[in-house]
Amino acid sequence: MDRIRKALLGGHPLVYVLTWEEPRIERLAQHLAKTFYGAPCAYGIWTVVEGLVVDGRPVPDTQDPLKALEAILAAQGKGFYLMKDFPTAGRPEIVRRLRDLYRALKDRGRHVLLVSPRLAIPEEAKKEIYVVEYELPDDNEIAKILDAHLRRRLNLSISEPEMRRLALAMRGLTADEVGHVVSKVFSTRKTFDEAGFLEILGEKEQMSRKEGVLEFVPPRFSLEDIGGYAVLKTWLQKRQSLFSKDALDAGIPIPKGILLMGISGCGKSLCVKTISTLWNLPLFRLDMNAVFGTDNPEMTFLRALRSVESVSPAVLWIDEIEMGVGGYREGGDASMSRIFSGFLTWMQEKSALVFVAATANRIHLLPAEIIRKGRFDQVFFVDLPNEEERKQIFAIHLKKNKCDVARFDLVFLAKATNGWNGAEIEQAVVSAVVDAYAESRSITEDDLYRMIAATVPLAVTMEEQIKQIRSWAHERALNASTS
Ligand SMILES: Nc1ncnc2c1ncn2[C@@H]1O[C@H](COP(=O)(O)OP(=O)(O)OP(=O)(O)O)[C@@H](O)[C@H]1O
Ligand SMILES: [Mg+2]
Repeated sequence: MDRIRKALLGGHPLVYVLTWEEPRIERLAQHLAKTFYGAPCAYGIWTVVEGLVVDGRPVPDTQDPLKALEAILAAQGKGFYLMKDFPTAGRPEIVRRLRDLYRALKDRGRHVLLVSPRLAIPEEAKKEIYVVEYELPDDNEIAKILDAHLRRRLNLSISEPEMRRLALAMRGLTADEVGHVVSKVFSTRKTFDEAGFLEILGEKEQMSRKEGVLEFVPPRFSLEDIGGYAVLKTWLQKRQSLFSKDALDAGIPIPKGILLMGISGCGKSLCVKTISTLWNLPLFRLDMNAVFGTDNPEMTFLRALRSVESVSPAVLWIDEIEMGVGGYREGGDASMSRIFSGFLTWMQEKSALVFVAATANRIHLLPAEIIRKGRFDQVFFVDLPNEEERKQIFAIHLKKNKCDVARFDLVFLAKATNGWNGAEIEQAVVSAVVDAYAESRSITEDDLYRMIAATVPLAVTMEEQIKQIRSWAHERALNASTS
């Protein structure tokens, strides 16, 4: 709101507000028309359907944006005019009129606010249009909205820490969405409990899915779900409280990010999912495939990075980062290399409060610049689990499947699965459980051995590649499981 005000105070007649929150801008413009110049002035609103409506009175024949601009140009006195989804594509005469409007209205107290969720400014009018990105509500604003809904409307009382937890869970939603989610989740319950919290996360997941390239990942996994990786776990635990208010106030340097690379199925993605739980930060996954599926991958990518900044502190997970930056080295297409350099710049300049967790499989595709010191705090190599780690992984997945771990000889199981990755161990346990269930009995060690004997692990079929990955990683990365 301050940025919009400043632009108006600076006399800018044309302000482009990039936002999803149309209703809030509408209220703002209405408020400005009443108060900005001391005495009320004109308040107009234009849509392609209704045309221009000034102070409640439609101006005839103004559905065409060109006509609407002309009507604003011809109006008298001061005023605020809000134009929704203003179209300029393929209409040079509109661009011309916008530029005329700029000159004619400058310092006259008549302002046009163009509101849209997409940035689409014609090249020719870039100098005349002042762009404000209207950010999503911050924690304080969210807390206010929650307060209004919960305490006043639904008559629920919530403790301060619970309120903060709720506000954190709501980050990244628009003000309206916060209201909708709260009404929906709390319409059937009278207290705030764990189930309510999970439901909110679920709702949020639904909403962020609409965004396309960014996906909110709910905190469902913790460090106890990972077998092995002692070094990586310690690294993460040490930094657990760096995003807390105390640490931030004390100015302790905040980590920028980590890169996990290594063999498929060894739990790289799983490790990333536990960070948000451990650090109590929201996690967003950036889908590079979806980024490349849009008309303008560069723009989509940078917007996604910025929208994560707007919900920081947060963890940004870039899965299979080599997809996005790999083509660079092989000469790939131009937009890929621009994305890559955009990413490096962003890594350098980004708000400190976005922690990047990137994962990569095909590490030979990664350009050297990305691994160079300074971009990521640490590059970890995730290898096939050793015997002790396989024991842990068996225990984790047996427990997950409600089996009595004490009835299994984990040492033998671990020995029998030399060269297996975590995903394969999980699969063996799951198939054994399903088989046993089909025969209405509980799972035995024999079920597991049958599965083990029937499986050819990836490490056998990909022996050469794994050797290569290891020797590559040896000099460049820190082993995640042994120091
Ligand atoms: N160390 C581990 N401890 C417990 N479970 C594991 C471990 N490694 C893998 N798993 C199981 O295997 C599943 C798949 O692993 P995950 O997707 O995290 O591997 P990945 O390294 O990201 O693989 P990819 O490179 O193919 O994306 C996990 O969800 C988990 O259930
Ligand atoms: Mg993965």
